[in-house]
Amino acid sequence: MLKFSKIGPKNYAGDLLVYLVRQPGKGSPRSACGTVDEIIRRVHALGDFSGKEGEHLLFYPEKGRHGLPDVERIMVVGLGQEELSRELFRKAGGSIASLAMKSKAQELLLVLPDLVCDMAEMVEGLSEGLVLGAYRFRRYKSKKDPEGSGEMLQQAALYAADSRGVGKALLLGEIAAQAACLARDMANEPARHLAAIHGMRCTILDQARMQKLGMGGIIGVNQGSAQPPEMIILEYAVKPSAPTLLLVGKGLTFDSGGISLKPSAGMEEMKYDMCGGAAVLCAMQAVAQAKLKRLNLVAIVPATENLPGPAALKPGDVIIQYGGKTVEVVNTDAEGRLILADALAYGIKKYKPDMVIDVATLTGAVIIGLGHHRTGLLANDDELCARLLAAGERSGEPLWRLPLDQEYSKQLRSEIADLKNVGKKDGGAITAAAFLKEFVGETPWAHLDIAGTAWDFTEKSYIPKGPSGIAVRTLFNFVRNWKG
Ligand code: BES
Ligand code: MN
Ligand code: ZN
Repeated sequence: MLKFSKIGPKNYAGDLLVYLVRQPGKGSPRSACGTVDEIIRRVHALGDFSGKEGEHLLFYPEKGRHGLPDVERIMVVGLGQEELSRELFRKAGGSIASLAMKSKAQELLLVLPDLVCDMAEMVEGLSEGLVLGAYRFRRYKSKKDPEGSGEMLQQAALYAADSRGVGKALLLGEIAAQAACLARDMANEPARHLAAIHGMRCTILDQARMQKLGMGGIIGVNQGSAQPPEMIILEYAVKPSAPTLLLVGKGLTFDSGGISLKPSAGMEEMKYDMCGGAAVLCAMQAVAQAKLKRLNLVAIVPATENLPGPAALKPGDVIIQYGGKTVEVVNTDAEGRLILADALAYGIKKYKPDMVIDVATLTGAVIIGLGHHRTGLLANDDELCARLLAAGERSGEPLWRLPLDQEYSKQLRSEIADLKNVGKKDGGAITAAAFLKEFVGETPWAHLDIAGTAWDFTEKSYIPKGPSGIAVRTLFNFVRNWKG
């Protein structure tokens, strides 16, 4: 969807020409075109446009008017006066994409401003923002629906007098954003099997195999469902000398709560309970597409529904997780940790990773604590945390670390089994992580609780309503910035 254009604004005769301007301390904002600046000056004098972040000015120039390019529409978008950052450019890209789509423009030319900043950061931010902001999920809208027939942005070209050395930034931004959009697609689709992505080694453990391996968590959670469970494994191997990162994502395709049934209001949102699984699969796609070489990766997604039924797991049942630990299931709605426990223990045993990151819409409690802005981060390793916090910051997907003292684990002691699957209500995001911790041993491990951020994430120009694709770009940047 993105490319660099050799055609400059003077010779561009397309749908939409876009300029980005800073908000000056005084006077009117300046673009790279004198005639456009005359118009900006007039509008600024009226008090309608000052170049604030998110502000825009759209006009339809008369053909053949001296000094103006021969285009249908010209748009000037404000960058404000705050410090220039990747997030600022990402937001600008998101605004441009949605404004372009509100008009009927199908393609655009964006003239890069001449600013004192890292050009690669600017290009990558804009690239991510344009792709993320142009996302719409319209598959199930009929053509008659006014929103169903809206135009999609087909192509955006960037123009800079000198674009040497930043082609890669454009491509990497696009790869990461497209992977996040794919995760959004997977989440928007109704509950069903997750599709595996090609280009890497893919193995699927079926029900019989998982039964044989002793994965009592996922087998138990699946008992109420008519759809068999699957454990999806993707491998991306670069070289034996590189460290191996194991990613595990919760792939609960629908969470009704099981016998501990959830209230019906809002239950439809529980088709999104696979967003962690989508995130790790789509991060794998981005890493493989960008051919990153620093880490070997394995992704495991335990996938099943959690439904009530005559064969469903009951409160009070005892299951045996992969590896032999027994768990008293006190609440069948705390199912995510049961399937993740099998996947974590199996992945660590089989692939002997140097570190593990799991991603899951695990608890309502993390939403109470952090709302919909920051993802909860819990870990047994400070360095892994520091790297993840940095990757999240770079991606505009901030994380916040919560404690994980041994004290919390005491709540999970059971009278009759090794563990029970829930603690007290208070601090629920932490006790959920404390449960997972029992299955990772000494391996450096971090857990991302994305229940608050996987959908209804902070509103921004490039974040649509519904699923956000959270954690895809964070994981991609984590791998990209890896230095051993
Ligand atoms: N998938 C839910 C967590 C969730 C809740 C995600 C709300 C997004 C929005 C998870 O399986 C769950 O039901 N957790 C329970 C745990 C409780 C029974 C200990 C919860 O948070 O209520
Ligand atoms: Mn649940
Ligand atoms: Zn769940």
